[in-house]
Amino acid sequence: MLTIAVSKGRIFEEAVPFLAEAGITPLEDPATSRKLILPTSRADVQLVIIRATDVPTFVEYGAADLGIAGKDVLLEHGSDNLYEPLDLNIARCRLMTAVHKDAPALTGRIRVATKYVKTAQRYFADLGVQAEIIKLYGSMELAPLVGLADCIVDLVDTGNTLRANNLEPRDLIMNISSRLVVNKAAMKMKNRAIAELLRQFEHTLSR
Ligand code: ATP
Ligand code: PRP
Ligand code: MG
Repeated sequence: MLTIAVSKGRIFEEAVPFLAEAGITPLEDPATSRKLILPTSRADVQLVIIRATDVPTFVEYGAADLGIAGKDVLLEHGSDNLYEPLDLNIARCRLMTAVHKDAPALTGRIRVATKYVKTAQRYFADLGVQAEIIKLYGSMELAPLVGLADCIVDLVDTGNTLRANNLEPRDLIMNISSRLVVNKAAMKMKNRAIAELLRQFEHTLSR
């Protein structure tokens, strides 16, 4: 049995064509099903539906053989105990700093709200900027509006969320897309099945 960890929402939806290329069709829709283990059209493949940020953990511990996770999540998780063989080029966005549109230039020690604590810490340290990082779990865009932070580090796609909250993007930290990750032991023990899957995913990417 191969177990693949995915989060519901955009990653699941954009992963469907990759899975289909490998003959994998989930038998239920995670958007409506309450099941966390989804059987598929292939008797030897199941999906586990988990929070996006939990995907590296499940794969690292071998609770799933493979997973699909955003580079933002992988960077923040920060583990070398995973293979990352494929950039699936889905769920593309940018990790950016953003500030209030009327904000003055940031100087001195700044306060930064984000759910990407480690990534933000590393980013500002590399720039030599003194930053106090405030960990949030969502709605980062609110922080500059209520005086919680001078700046946020968050994902930007269309920019609609920033604009709707009178914020504007400042600096690009990294371009983000979702990656296929593989448990290291599974790569050895289930090599044939996983190598075959990788080939099929690569075929989808090359089209
Ligand atoms: P949760 O609701 O569990 O907190 P989440 O917000 O992390 O989940 P998603 O919004 O599905 O879950 O994001 C999953 C991944 O998709 C992110 O890690 C990122 O790589 C990518 N992503 C997030 N927002 C966008 C977006 N607006 N456009 C494109 N890709 C995005
Ligand atoms: C994500 C992200 C940003 C927004 C950026 O939120 O956290 O808030 O998308 O996209 P945009 O530039 O196109 O507006 P998401 O839609 O995943 O909602 P969430 O808060 O439930 O994670
Ligand atoms: Mg989201």
